[in-house]
Amino acid sequence: NMQVDVKKVGSPIQSTMYGIFFEDINYGADGGLYAEMIKNRSFEFPQSLLGWTSFGKVEVRDDKPAFTNNPHFVRLHEAGHSDKQTGLDNEGFFGVAVKQNATYRFSVWARLPEAGAGSIRVELIDGASNVLVKENLTFDSKEWKKYQVILKAPKTEAKARLRIFLTSKAAVDLDHVSLFPVDTWKGRENGLRKDLAQALYDLHPGVFRFPGGCIVEGTDLETRYQWKNTVGQVENRKLNENRWQYTFTHRFFPDYFQTYGMGFFELFQLSEDIGAEPLPVLSCGLACQFQNKDEKAHASVKELDPYIQDALDLIEFANGDVTTKWGKLRADMGHPAPFNLKVMAVGNEQWGTLYPERLEPFIKAIRAKYPTFKIIGSAGPSPDGKDFEFGWKEMKRLKTDLVDEHYYKDPKWFLTNATRYDAYDRKGPKVFAGEYACHVQSVKNNFESALCEAAFMTGFERNADLVQMCTYAPLFAHVDGYQWRPDLIWFDNLRSVRSVNYYVQQLYGMNKGTNVLPLTINNQPVTGKDGLYATAAWDKTAKAYIIKVANTSDKEQSVSITLAGLKKGVAFAKSTCTKLHSPDLDMENTLDNPYAVVPVETPVTLEGNVLNVKLESKTFAVYRLQN
Ligand code: AHR
Repeated sequence: NMQVDVKKVGSPIQSTMYGIFFEDINYGADGGLYAEMIKNRSFEFPQSLLGWTSFGKVEVRDDKPAFTNNPHFVRLHEAGHSDKQTGLDNEGFFGVAVKQNATYRFSVWARLPEAGAGSIRVELIDGASNVLVKENLTFDSKEWKKYQVILKAPKTEAKARLRIFLTSKAAVDLDHVSLFPVDTWKGRENGLRKDLAQALYDLHPGVFRFPGGCIVEGTDLETRYQWKNTVGQVENRKLNENRWQYTFTHRFFPDYFQTYGMGFFELFQLSEDIGAEPLPVLSCGLACQFQNKDEKAHASVKELDPYIQDALDLIEFANGDVTTKWGKLRADMGHPAPFNLKVMAVGNEQWGTLYPERLEPFIKAIRAKYPTFKIIGSAGPSPDGKDFEFGWKEMKRLKTDLVDEHYYKDPKWFLTNATRYDAYDRKGPKVFAGEYACHVQSVKNNFESALCEAAFMTGFERNADLVQMCTYAPLFAHVDGYQWRPDLIWFDNLRSVRSVNYYVQQLYGMNKGTNVLPLTINNQPVTGKDGLYATAAWDKTAKAYIIKVANTSDKEQSVSITLAGLKKGVAFAKSTCTKLHSPDLDMENTLDNPYAVVPVETPVTLEGNVLNVKLESKTFAVYRLQN
């Protein structure tokens, strides 16, 4: 028997409680959420024509470039024979995928380096080189200028390519060759893939953490994420290597780079679009400690000034008015209103003495200028052991507002740790569960992993006075280009699928409530006995009681949930139960079978102040009792 004491309205549940963690891993940005379809559009990869096949007379040059941060461009010269052609084609990210009747915006920066008119023909071709659609573009300027044309795909093709032919006698210079679907999220030209952004919106997230993850630190300091390189004119954002070229899953992706077409401006904008608070993570001057064992690989404490300045400037970029340098840039980019940034993390997964001695000067500088701004410190990569204890001790000493804990663990750990926060110290920093996922054989997004996460997350909510944010990780994975799994949302170039784990996050996001309510099972606190995990909340806005229960046991259980202290005569006419259940623990949602396990909603009726329910073995259920 479960009892919920509706009269004892407890701690607030923060609006930021259930959120999203975004990182450019598994082709999450370029080739994923960022809708650009051309790989190496600026010819800046170390091998300038990587991703391209050139034919005829094509030169890569960098004299008088259009964009100083991305100086390379191509010059196409006439092939010199009536049966020969000059041009190049692009393979895209695992293909250029087009959908029947959809339109695509081709754009290019071009210049005429010699006298005469210049022109190209742009084609989308299928895997067998048949032309799907073609359009001509004529250039009229000796100076760099942007041109564009719309291509309409006559049929769906997953592995198309973009091909460009020189059609003039005169040579032409081309740079920043780009192809976007016209129909992006919110219709923006430098936009995001609609289905993927929609999936984020549908999570009802409270917080949006970006840009990572290890990517914040980079493989080495030089390749760390520097937000200032990711803002301003898109074409002039300096390309960076992606730390996830190399991975311990032993899959190597030498062509994985970061164009930053989706940079900090776009990420702040996305937070706003999906109704989540932005939570940027910045480098603390330490390169990824996993990959850099030598202390010299890091910035010394004395060398931290530019890193600290980046943090201060970011707050100005997000919140400053147009009279400030960085606030003006934000306004010039199209967002005069502030993004209302309140919190940032400094350092991702750092440990040992190296970290706190670097974090400390950040905290001093940020608090001196922005006294109410919140700072998140890290407790290292693992939720147990000496480094973790040391990390927490140091974060308490430094009085960070929150401590970021990460756990990628097996089902047993998740179930055992559903009560981990019950006994945490309430006097220190709050908890941000910044990365977590239940790993079944380290690969599966199966129902078992999702059920364990659902059970574990009851512990977040019961301890909402302490746990103020949580974000599952990683978020996205391209089926042809992943470095890490499990992940929340999988996609190929045409389709995407929401994992069972996604639906757990969504159920929490949509049913968070505003305050915790005390809940006991047989008059005892929740311990996981009989495989039952539960939490209750009150939503003062919707006037709803929300009870989440996971039955992880092997048996069906009849549970009566008593709402103790409930006023008599309240009808609760719109009460529902939403269940996530699969008889097969190994069941996964896949691109070909996307709805294998999805939430199912049914009405429920209270008898007086009691709700009697039957919970099948291996079920997560959300009861929402309201009028
Ligand atoms: O989520 C994948 C990686 O796991 C993150 O980049 C890192 O913070 C953690 O080790």
